[in-house]
Amino acid sequence: MCPIITAAKEHQAGATVLAHSAGTGSAFEIVAREDFSDVTFLIEFTHPQMARAARPGQFVIVLPHEHSERIPLTIADFDRDRGTVTLVIQAVGKTTQEMQKDCCVGARLFGVVGPMGVPSHIGSVGKVVCVGGGLGVAPVFPQARAFKESGAYVIGIVGFRSRDLVFWRDKFESVCDEFIICTNDGSVGIKGLVTDGIDSAIKKHDDIDEVIAIGPPIMMKCSAEATRPHKIRTTVSLNPIMVDGTGMCGGCRVIVDGKQKFACVDGPDFDGHKVDFDDLMNRLGRFTEEEKLAVRKWSEHCHQSEPLPHSTAEG
Ligand SMILES: Cc1cc2nc3c(=O)[nH]c(=O)nc-3n(C[C@H](O)[C@H](O)[C@H](O)COP(=O)(O)OP(=O)(O)OC[C@H]3O[C@@H](n4cnc5c(N)ncnc54)[C@H](O)[C@@H]3O)c2cc1C
Ligand code: FES
Repeated sequence: MCPIITAAKEHQAGATVLAHSAGTGSAFEIVAREDFSDVTFLIEFTHPQMARAARPGQFVIVLPHEHSERIPLTIADFDRDRGTVTLVIQAVGKTTQEMQKDCCVGARLFGVVGPMGVPSHIGSVGKVVCVGGGLGVAPVFPQARAFKESGAYVIGIVGFRSRDLVFWRDKFESVCDEFIICTNDGSVGIKGLVTDGIDSAIKKHDDIDEVIAIGPPIMMKCSAEATRPHKIRTTVSLNPIMVDGTGMCGGCRVIVDGKQKFACVDGPDFDGHKVDFDDLMNRLGRFTEEEKLAVRKWSEHCHQSEPLPHSTAEG
């Protein structure tokens, strides 16, 4: 089996430490898996050093197997006692569908780089609204928890298409002073979009200091427009296509306040009132044909592909 290369940055007292380790051991072993729907699933993998270094708002770049694409995934949770990192993944294309098929308990990811990106700024705010749309519900959770730990009054707003897609309700309720679920079909909570939840929170509270919104670009754009007239600081987490994750390739270029930024090193968090979301959405769609082709080819050959290696007692 090939050695696993990991690079874990530790943010300690303002410094960034880059720690490398190589070898097999139990690093990146998948110790839990939960399926939230036909396309959304959670994996929890072991890496004590990474779990210690992780901060809310950061992401990792995952190489599920030796020959796969490297894909960025947000750290949805981390447990320093158990030494684990949790990812919530939506199977939208070749690599994520491969992971959905292969990432079972006992299997091992080939490589993970991280934590990457600038950690979210958890300032001392009085009242904060943490908004997650669809899959964005998972990455906003560590921020909601961190704000709660910092003493803030936390209002959680999550949006799903319908009741059967809802996940982590208990986790949010445990860290939120108020919690609003919005569903498109009204099968649970408010019937409507997260922006309806934001409007109702703003009506009820005239002292909101900050809104954090994570989800599909259109949802983050609409959330920023909902808060703009009220001049409430609004932070979004951008998800442009990333390649190297080090600020070298330019793949993740985004426009913020008319200036070019690289989401992998300058973000992924940015001021939602200054982001050019139309540019982001255009750039996200530029490889659609290649992505469709990759899924088609993979589907034809997936039965021949090798599953991820399983951990053994020897490591
Ligand atoms: C900082 C960041 C955090 C992210 N966190 C999560 C997460 O927690 N869970 C999750 O399911 N997804 C997350 N994504 C998106 C995830 O990386 C893509 O869905 C994944 O790369 C798609 O790969 P694919 O081969 O399955 O699909 P493809 O068919 O290749 O792509 C499907 C769509 O995903 C996007 N995409 C493709 N390649 C990349 C790439 N290299 N980088 C970013 N986006 C890409 C494009 O919009 C594309 O249309 C995140 C992206 C970024 C940038
Ligand atoms: S991913 Fe290459 S510059 Fe950000």
